[in-house]
Amino acid sequence: MLAETAVVRIAVLISGSGSNLQAIIDAKAANLIPAELALVLSNEPQAYGLTRAQQAGIETQVLDHRDYPNREAYDAALKHALAHHEIDFVVLAGFMRILSQEFVQAYAGRMLNIHPSLLPKYPGLHTHRRAIESGDTVHGATVHFVTSDLDMGPPVIQGKLAIEPGESEQSLSKRVLESIEHQIYPVAVKWLAEGRITSEDGQAFFDREPLPPGGIKWEA
Ligand code: GRF
Repeated sequence: MLAETAVVRIAVLISGSGSNLQAIIDAKAANLIPAELALVLSNEPQAYGLTRAQQAGIETQVLDHRDYPNREAYDAALKHALAHHEIDFVVLAGFMRILSQEFVQAYAGRMLNIHPSLLPKYPGLHTHRRAIESGDTVHGATVHFVTSDLDMGPPVIQGKLAIEPGESEQSLSKRVLESIEHQIYPVAVKWLAEGRITSEDGQAFFDREPLPPGGIKWEA
């Protein structure tokens, strides 16, 4: 008789350094994530995250967006690649592409993103600079389910830190990345693999209880 328990298969999508991917790889190596990291896919052939994945023995694939005539064609190829690898959950980790509504729909409730701001503040780019220029005293990062509203899907977990007086954009971005993003993303991916976090109609749930706006507050 075959075992009943199918292993959850996760794909991580990247475009660059992949330091968040590394944090997830490390958590998996420490047996914290009950899932297989079945695929790391990049739209950028030179992404360093591909090397990180290969070093961890994870299958990699490059789908270069320049090889496709438009977003729909690219996203169809992406969907095909994920189906081919029998992917259950998609984790966006610095994947610098906007996904079509159709793709987002196909992975509704099964796709997470990390965004370097305290959403709903500062969706989009240059979040650290915008926080500093606005005179904010706190900043952070949010993991959220992906919906067709860019960076605006329901939050799962959010961590924050104090902006230091006179702090540079570079320093703030490094601190948010290392002391927030690398801590909260593995936790969220663990919950995703365990089936503890879910999302329906723009609302995220933890153990079936609705999460507050901003999601679970993570303390350093
Ligand atoms: C992170 O700041 C993430 O929040 C944003 O892109 C960056 C990716 O960094 N979406 P890395 O590739 O994980 O190092």
